[in-house]
Amino acid sequence: MTRIIAFVQRKGGCGKTTTCLNLAGAMAELGRKVLLLDLDPQCSLSASVLDVRPGEHLLSAALINGTSLADLVRPSGLANINVIPADPDLARIELNMGLMPGRERLLRDRLRAERALLDGYDYVLLDAPPLLGFLTTNCLTAAHSCILPLNPQDRSSRDALSETIASVRHVAEESNYNLRIDGILLGQVKLRTSLGNAACAYMRRTWGSLVFEPVIPDSIAVQEALNNRQPVTLYNKRSTPAAAYRALCQAVISQERNAAETGSADVAS
Ligand SMILES: Nc1ncnc2c1ncn2[C@@H]1O[C@H](COP(=O)(O)OP(=O)(O)OP(=O)(O)O)[C@@H](O)[C@H]1O
Ligand SMILES: [Mg+2]
Repeated sequence: MTRIIAFVQRKGGCGKTTTCLNLAGAMAELGRKVLLLDLDPQCSLSASVLDVRPGEHLLSAALINGTSLADLVRPSGLANINVIPADPDLARIELNMGLMPGRERLLRDRLRAERALLDGYDYVLLDAPPLLGFLTTNCLTAAHSCILPLNPQDRSSRDALSETIASVRHVAEESNYNLRIDGILLGQVKLRTSLGNAACAYMRRTWGSLVFEPVIPDSIAVQEALNNRQPVTLYNKRSTPAAAYRALCQAVISQERNAAETGSADVAS
């Protein structure tokens, strides 16, 4: 079965897009087929792997007019990873869709209508924008689970988390009863500093087992890989962050097995 995972956090710059790309890299390394779907009008995920030039087929049109998503798929240049790029018009629909009935289900309905597309992938990773609006709600409504990346050293990032979790719970109550939180991912962590250690310890005390065990270090290798349009798992295979993303990938896979065995929905209560 294809797993759909949304990367969500109200705070900007906290690692949603970077996690999406690098987790895809770790999944692809294991031979899993991954579709990256960029729902952020900033187009950062698309730009991280493609030289994006919006053509006539646009994701915003697929959501609004129901045109085919399959026509939008582009090779990423990376083995086992394809991309549906975002387009700047998504910003317009974020603003204008407020009153449309059923607006939160547009992405889910499109994906459900395109079983043949989904059947070609083990994972669809949805990169959400940094606000809890129409596009993020669509991601959460379409997803089986979500990953909430944040920089634990950054207070505003920590403060945004409660709001983000409240949104996840709201969607789980209203329209996606089986939505799970896979975990809160601590990223850009300054390892072996008292600030980094204290911030991670605080997050584990506060959020317990909801925090993923692997943490992603703050690392130049991650940025170099981004600059070269590659996941760090490929660009610098033996680096510490590459190992961390592989550990994250294993954690996601084992959660998936547990959820399949128990059939449980686990949105933090
Ligand atoms: N582990 C890391 N080590 C070093 N730099 C990182 C790491 N993770 C992310 N960054 C840097 O932080 C920047 C912001 O990350 P990213 O774009 O993934 O955040 P985002 O949550 O997607 O932001 P937005 O909400 O604006 O879409 C990246 O451009 C990258 O340079
Ligand atoms: Mg982003």
